[in-house]
Amino acid sequence: MLRTHTCGELNISHLGQLVTLCGWVQKSRDLGGTTFIDVRDRYGLTQLIFNTDTDATLREKSRELGREFVIKVSGTVIERTNKNTKIPTGEIEIAVSELEVLNAAKIPPFLIEDETDGGEELRAKYRYLDLRRNPIRNNLVLRHKMAQEVRKYLDGLNFIEVETPVLIKSTPEGARDFVVPSRMNAGEFYALPQSPQTFKQLLMVSGFDRYFQIVKCFRDEDLRADRQPEFTQIDCEMAFITQEDILNIFEGLTRHLFKNIKGIEFDNFPRMQYADAMRLYGSDKPDTRFGMQFVELNDLVKGKGLGIFDNAELVVGINAKGCAEYTRKQIDELTEWLKRPQIGATGMIYCRYNTDGTLKSSVDKFYNEEELAKWAAAFGAEQGDLMLLLAGNADKVRKQLNELRLEMGNRLGLRDKNKFSPLWVVDFPLLEWDEETERYHAMHHPFTSPKPEDIALLDTAPGEVRANAYDLVINGTEIGGGSIRIHDRTLQALMFKHLGFSPEEAQKQFGFLMDAFEYGAPPHGGIAFGFDRLTSIFAGLDSIRDVIAFPKNNSGRDVMIDSPSTIADAQLNELKIKTAL
Ligand code: AMO
Repeated sequence: MLRTHTCGELNISHLGQLVTLCGWVQKSRDLGGTTFIDVRDRYGLTQLIFNTDTDATLREKSRELGREFVIKVSGTVIERTNKNTKIPTGEIEIAVSELEVLNAAKIPPFLIEDETDGGEELRAKYRYLDLRRNPIRNNLVLRHKMAQEVRKYLDGLNFIEVETPVLIKSTPEGARDFVVPSRMNAGEFYALPQSPQTFKQLLMVSGFDRYFQIVKCFRDEDLRADRQPEFTQIDCEMAFITQEDILNIFEGLTRHLFKNIKGIEFDNFPRMQYADAMRLYGSDKPDTRFGMQFVELNDLVKGKGLGIFDNAELVVGINAKGCAEYTRKQIDELTEWLKRPQIGATGMIYCRYNTDGTLKSSVDKFYNEEELAKWAAAFGAEQGDLMLLLAGNADKVRKQLNELRLEMGNRLGLRDKNKFSPLWVVDFPLLEWDEETERYHAMHHPFTSPKPEDIALLDTAPGEVRANAYDLVINGTEIGGGSIRIHDRTLQALMFKHLGFSPEEAQKQFGFLMDAFEYGAPPHGGIAFGFDRLTSIFAGLDSIRDVIAFPKNNSGRDVMIDSPSTIADAQLNELKIKTAL
């Protein structure tokens, strides 16, 4: 090896040793007689010193080093006069006797430091330089450690890692597919998997029993902070299990990761029915780091002549602790925020529970203080609190109040990144009505089994059928989702029928799976965790981008390699693809 040590490991115990280090020039300070250079590698920083004791040509050479030059230095470890207690190598420096420039570097387009001056676009273009910065590198180290712990835990439970193909065929799983033309089968396309769903089920038919894979998935959907077109799942499937077994094993995985990576142990790991999550939080992924649960007020507020309440399907609110002092301006601003098209509320009613014990609402004409006291009791409000109410269509108003609750959580500092609150949401509906296409869609995917006791409702009230489906939510982010699957051809065919497939279409798209069900398919189920999301929660980040080595931007582009890109006519011809251009 070119070096004897890394730039992060030398300390006072190495005094007097002759060492060789390799790395990048982080910083150079020329103080006339003495030059200090910080050399950096993945492991840390070490200070090099060139002074009057150093050979004159070497000193001259040291002055020519620019930022990010790659160097190799040899020298003696000596004690620093001016110690830096903030870094592990801060007590020593290297009195350099040899210096070799392994490669010169252009001045980097932004500072390679924890706090950089580079904008997002620039850093994305030079991602390989951004990856030299500690915060980003640490995220990837964290990701690596988490992947190792996942493998350790699952291997310990007899899970086998099996690779499934990346060139597959389109399966409807909610998002659009990325497709790949086939040269050898002109006019035909592969699709990149949105997940290995059908393959992992087939592995159960093959008797693998416990499968996992840390696997790339691809979805051509609109991007957000927690969505990338290619992302990674911890994908799992098990045979001969119940929902309870899956919840326990993957609660175990979550606990294992938190304990081994962050030293955190959870006292409890609650479960909540989907219906309760919607009623109490207006969301199937509630952030349970804080309370502020919804309180429904129909019984208390209707029939007093206030139209917006009388005509509403649902009047529901939250209690903002200690916010009675909010000024009229602050409340108006919050109302405007709710009225933005992204949220779409028509207005907000409020009631202050003042510190002097009086109650004052924005609808005082309709409710006297005695009635407002009943509101306060329903909210469990105390003096100094502010009750915020919305009214309207139940589904819409719950969604809007969810946004308001999260916003108030932010404003009140209740969404602490160092606090972790896991939650299983269970008993999801099987089907979801889609206004646009005017038909039911599978809420999870078409392979999810209905609860046996609800199968009869498929014909009469499809929207009410519950599934053996569950999500893992942490801090309001959907980390994973899974279900117990259908393993019977007849039920799978019935499911496709309800999803609007003709028997021919179902056979064409999923015949391989339904055929497999006829050759001894065991009962099975599984789950997939979004690995990028899980890592970003562990890293305390809002976006998954910085836990991915080479992510895409919001338009799905990799600006570093400039992709996607056009391809040559010759290539298109070979693929028998005609362009519209
Ligand atoms: P699902 O579609 O819920 O389930 O995906 C599982 C988890 O993957 C993560 N995820 C994403 N992460 C980043 N970018 C994206 N575009 C993205 N889309 C999804 C989420 C999500 O919870 N085959 C089923 C699993 C199963 O039933 O076993 C599936 O893919 O964290």
